[in-house]
Amino acid sequence: MSNQYEVLGKAPDAEDLKNLSSEDIHLTIKNLNAGYGKMEILHNFDLFVSKAQSLCLIGPNGAGKSTILHSIYGFTNIFSGKIEIDGKEITNLTPAEKLKSVGIAYILQDNSVFPDMTVEENLLMGGFIKDKTEESYQEAEKILDKYERLRNRRNQPAKVLSGGERRLLEISRALVMKPSVLLVDEPSIGLEPRYIDMVFEILGDLQKNEKKTIILVEQNAKKGLEFSDIGYVLVSGQTAIAGRGDDLLKNDDVGRLFLGG
Ligand SMILES: Nc1ncnc2c1ncn2[C@@H]1O[C@H](COP(=O)(O)OP(=O)(O)OP(=O)(O)O)[C@@H](O)[C@H]1O
Ligand SMILES: [Mg+2]
Repeated sequence: MSNQYEVLGKAPDAEDLKNLSSEDIHLTIKNLNAGYGKMEILHNFDLFVSKAQSLCLIGPNGAGKSTILHSIYGFTNIFSGKIEIDGKEITNLTPAEKLKSVGIAYILQDNSVFPDMTVEENLLMGGFIKDKTEESYQEAEKILDKYERLRNRRNQPAKVLSGGERRLLEISRALVMKPSVLLVDEPSIGLEPRYIDMVFEILGDLQKNEKKTIILVEQNAKKGLEFSDIGYVLVSGQTAIAGRGDDLLKNDDVGRLFLGG
């Protein structure tokens, strides 16, 4: 079967991908084969991202972008390959262990706030897995200090929030666990342009000022690549093109296939 992606040149190998990151690699995926049930979605997939670097996954629907985040977090069947954080293998840890002991947080693609709980209660839910509730309270308080939009509504049910505020709450809830890696699936989906900019500003602040490593999936390829240090173009469970975000924005194939140019 031929398709519009077949014309793409030679796929990058692990060495090419590694060269997009600094020496200080934070998260590594090596030769991963993973999927759901017996179905393999990702084929010999590699990924390298440094501490406080941002990496954006773009690609057509069904390419396996969310499956990469699911695999890092522990929602898929891993047939072979390795996932490491700071050189330590974490391939088979449960999502709870990943959140608690290695600091990986996953921000869901779907709307996941609890509408009838208050903003503050929603935030505290982010720390439900912590042994010390006191720490969750402190983190929640810090977040409320930082984000006025949430502070002003801390005692109101989350259903009164605007779409942008809701996304902010979803991101903030993950922060209660003080993660070092944020996995973010389609942060801009369903948001008006002004909120999209707000969400990217918040992610930028978390990357630059709080040194979070960010791996995001973004349908809005332009926004995603403008934001990110590096980008991978995923096609059929494999990386077809990879580069620095700014270089991909200038890449003819990326422009033609994903930027409407
Ligand atoms: N929970 C699941 N169980 C079985 N198959 C799944 C599951 N989630 C995804 N898939 C399949 O895996 C493939 C890749 O899906 P994935 O969600 O990773 O794509 P995506 O690149 O994120 O696409 P989109 O841009 O539409 O979000 C698809 O064929 C999809 O049907
Ligand atoms: Mg997806």
